[in-house]
Amino acid sequence: MTVTLENVKPLIGSVVRFDDRAELFTEDAMALFREAMETRTVLVFPEVDFSDEEQLRFTDMFGARVNLTSDSVSEKAKEEDVYQVTLDRKVNKAPEYVLGTFFWHMDGLTVDMPPPAATLLSCRRASADGGQTEFSSTYAAYDYLPDDDKALVENLKATHSVRASLRPIADIIPPEDEAKMNIGIVKDHPIVWRRANGRASLVIGTTTDRVEGMEIVHGRALLTRLLEWAVQPDFVYRHYWKKGDFVIWDNCGAMHRVIPYDWESGRMMHRTSIAGTEAVGA
Ligand code: OGA
Ligand code: MN
Repeated sequence: MTVTLENVKPLIGSVVRFDDRAELFTEDAMALFREAMETRTVLVFPEVDFSDEEQLRFTDMFGARVNLTSDSVSEKAKEEDVYQVTLDRKVNKAPEYVLGTFFWHMDGLTVDMPPPAATLLSCRRASADGGQTEFSSTYAAYDYLPDDDKALVENLKATHSVRASLRPIADIIPPEDEAKMNIGIVKDHPIVWRRANGRASLVIGTTTDRVEGMEIVHGRALLTRLLEWAVQPDFVYRHYWKKGDFVIWDNCGAMHRVIPYDWESGRMMHRTSIAGTEAVGA
């Protein structure tokens, strides 16, 4: 097998190198990718140009496919479990949610299932301006957290909701779309997620609202401070997309966000997800 990995930064990110793309669809390669995703968080397959069919084949070999969004995509894409991430109103009937991706988040914290283990994203059309995706390792964020903060957050829980995540865009949502802000469920998650693999990561981001048992403003200040810590440059990889790039990441060990791009940019990403097997905090 000629598939190899090249680290991008000490704590996060690897680029996958290969001679023949057929080699990516082998059990040996999948085993390598699964292991690497645990330790490197984000894997980049430069300009591999997957069709939807290839992306689904890769997704199914990598793990158990799951559909996170049952609406707001075209019927065809829905059937195929490929979600089209775009601000194009002709394709996406609820692009306001895509605006939510401009803020640090983990996928699937406000749905009634374990968060997806991995997210897989193909770039079909890059934006000329903006549109880079950033990933921050929430394992690194926990590992390097100063001891007094580790002790402080050890047994704390935060409330997560879609409403909280839409707060930064609440005043630009038309009143008739207000009801859209109440989708998803409100869920409490421990801030420190002790994983089955023996590691621990932080569960924070734009969906957080309050810290249980704390005065609201103190809780929000703590959540802001943890977020600022977690996204320091050493913990973050920023991907500059080229058409055909395919990136997969450990959704349970990372937050991600997109640098803003325009409504008219034409940016189009095709997303698939792998089902999570661990509920947060279990
Ligand atoms: C998402 C997301 C990232 C991107 O679809 O959940 O965060 O780069 N997308 O579009
Ligand atoms: Mn996302």
